[in-house]
Amino acid sequence: MTRYFPARFLWGAATAAHQVEGNNLNNDWWQLEHVAADYGVEFSGDALDSYHRYPEDMQLAADAGLTAYRFSLEWSRIEPSPGKFSLAELAHYRRMIDTATGLGLTPVVTLHHFTHPIWFGELGGWLGQDAVRLFRRYVEHACTILAGVEWVCTINEPNIVAVNHGQQRRVAQGLEYQFVGALPDAEIGQALIAAHRAAAPLIRAATGAKVGWTVANQAYVPSPGAEAKFDEIQHIWEDMYLEPARDDDFIGVQSYTSQLVDENGVVPHPEQADNTLMGWAYRPDALGIAVRHTHDVVGATPILITENGIATTDDCQRISYTAEALGHLLDAIDDGIDVRGYLHWSLLDNFEWGRWDPTFGLIAVDRTTFERRAKPSLAWLGQVARANAI
Ligand code: FCB
Repeated sequence: MTRYFPARFLWGAATAAHQVEGNNLNNDWWQLEHVAADYGVEFSGDALDSYHRYPEDMQLAADAGLTAYRFSLEWSRIEPSPGKFSLAELAHYRRMIDTATGLGLTPVVTLHHFTHPIWFGELGGWLGQDAVRLFRRYVEHACTILAGVEWVCTINEPNIVAVNHGQQRRVAQGLEYQFVGALPDAEIGQALIAAHRAAAPLIRAATGAKVGWTVANQAYVPSPGAEAKFDEIQHIWEDMYLEPARDDDFIGVQSYTSQLVDENGVVPHPEQADNTLMGWAYRPDALGIAVRHTHDVVGATPILITENGIATTDDCQRISYTAEALGHLLDAIDDGIDVRGYLHWSLLDNFEWGRWDPTFGLIAVDRTTFERRAKPSLAWLGQVARANAI
């Protein structure tokens, strides 16, 4: 049976600057890749050289039939020192917007995707006295190149930023790094919420874009009797970041897997043969859980799927995962939830934050020649996009 998606549904793929551009010398991830190399953290280096090769990346997406491309601006390039803005880098990102539009791809622009200029960290990061003002100032400058852009994400996965920076904070305080069970640091989370709330009206006024942010949805499920713990975890992990989206133009849902919460907290993924290259449970149904939970919290705010995908070497598995996830998404749409589009993570096999082995891409990249090779899943998703149906 053919099942259709709503009219004008966006079909695309997503990337983030640091994961594809290469040589982002001036951000905290580049710095971490050096200090943590002995702990197995890999180096982003040239990444995929998408800083120069983005026209080819976008062309492949457009030729396949996709209609949207989500990418991010790199703050550390745009503002290499505090208050010193690079017009050339801003022009670079404007060219990306124009290239996407010229190819018939609706640009979905993220202003902050995990990386910070090194100087921002030196000023205390998100707990620095001036953090919100500094972010706002960057956003003001970013707005100068956003004319005509319809979709802007302020901050990608603030809940994950609050986990990662919470860990840094613990280590700085002499506490242990938590390999299991780390929670988002609520104080850092509050600073991110304040930054989002400061930036969103400004972007709306300057550009007329729909403004929102994206949350890493965990699709948690309570084990019997663990409802109280579940509510607590759900709030710390997700809901405090979803609640501000009630005032936004959209909320970005990002979903990969699902996990149980028992009376002790989040249950680690059981070791299973079909766990993905991230070690996550194979759960295409997570997207449906994530969308429904998001809708329960945000109410009428429209939803955009800003990330969903699977790290696998088996491209057939990528297609089956995605097909099944889209089925669950359609079930939620049929139940009346307002979903505006689906952006697959990721367009390209890229730098997965310290690791190169988890391949999420619809396109493989040879990292010595930078040659792109589209996988069958790209053509498959393009077909879904053209048909607007599964
Ligand atoms: C999300 C990130 C994205 C990518 C995927 C796998 O948490 O936003 O950059 O790493 O996970």
